[in-house]
Amino acid sequence: MRRKVAVIGAGNVGAAVAQYLAEDNICDITLIDVVEGLPQGKALDLMQAGPIRGYDVTITGSNDFADMRGSDIIVHTAGLARKPGMSREDLLAKNAEIIGTVAGKVKEYASHAIILMVANPLDLMTYHAYKVSGFPPNRVFGQAGILDSIRFRTFIGMELGVAQTETEAMVLGGHGDTMVPLPRYTTASGIPITELMAPDRIEALSQRTINGGGEIVALLKTGSAYYAPAAASAAMVDSVLNDKKKLYPCSAYLTGQYGINDIYIGVPVVLGQTGIEKIIELKLDGKELAALQKSAATYKEHLKPLGY
Ligand code: 2OP
Repeated sequence: MRRKVAVIGAGNVGAAVAQYLAEDNICDITLIDVVEGLPQGKALDLMQAGPIRGYDVTITGSNDFADMRGSDIIVHTAGLARKPGMSREDLLAKNAEIIGTVAGKVKEYASHAIILMVANPLDLMTYHAYKVSGFPPNRVFGQAGILDSIRFRTFIGMELGVAQTETEAMVLGGHGDTMVPLPRYTTASGIPITELMAPDRIEALSQRTINGGGEIVALLKTGSAYYAPAAASAAMVDSVLNDKKKLYPCSAYLTGQYGINDIYIGVPVVLGQTGIEKIIELKLDGKELAALQKSAATYKEHLKPLGY
């Protein structure tokens, strides 16, 4: 039987996730949205691209959450997106309400599924989905570290004049102003960038990465990025569905790792068929660890308005 992924939210991110998953030919896809006609229209449009793009998966659209039944993974993209001048945390109350509803539906209709959270503020919304669903933490995690890392990789490729596919990067921490790019664990063809770039250029690219989402919001003016967030989400789905055991930075529930407890934050994990199969504890130096712990402390504060 074909694997099935339900994508909640048929906006820009949701539709792009469906497109990348279809092009990967790895699962049937159900797009679910409350707006009548929107998921059905996008699903039909994507189906019609299949003959020429070379995919033959089934893509359906629905306004009924019951249609997530039988899904292996629920990718949650629904929620408000940032406008210029807004932080991801400004979306907290409204998106928490949406995620609370959807997580309850996942519990009802797809109680064995994995929840992949994409909506912002990412780490807080992933925590909320974990609490509302009651699922074990290996089955609830968030996309963001991959997005932040591919942004860092792109900037490094552009700076060095090296193919961005030859770069690797590790960005930990929350998906926001406190994220923690790790130059020591970031390479071009295996060479640490600390060997290839001056410290002030590394700092400038780290800062550009931290502001990577904001840079795109400022350019688009009416919403936030979607191609790269969707590509990052599709890579995570692929690693789970195909048990690829990729090592990616993802928003994961910590129980003492890095001296952090009871919070979702970006750390390196192994993603396989059971979801998060392992959390990797890197040997961070004092400054890196302090930055990660500061990021976690910030999110602990931000969770308080949600009653946690
Ligand atoms: C971003 O960083 C939308 O949070 C997403 O672009």
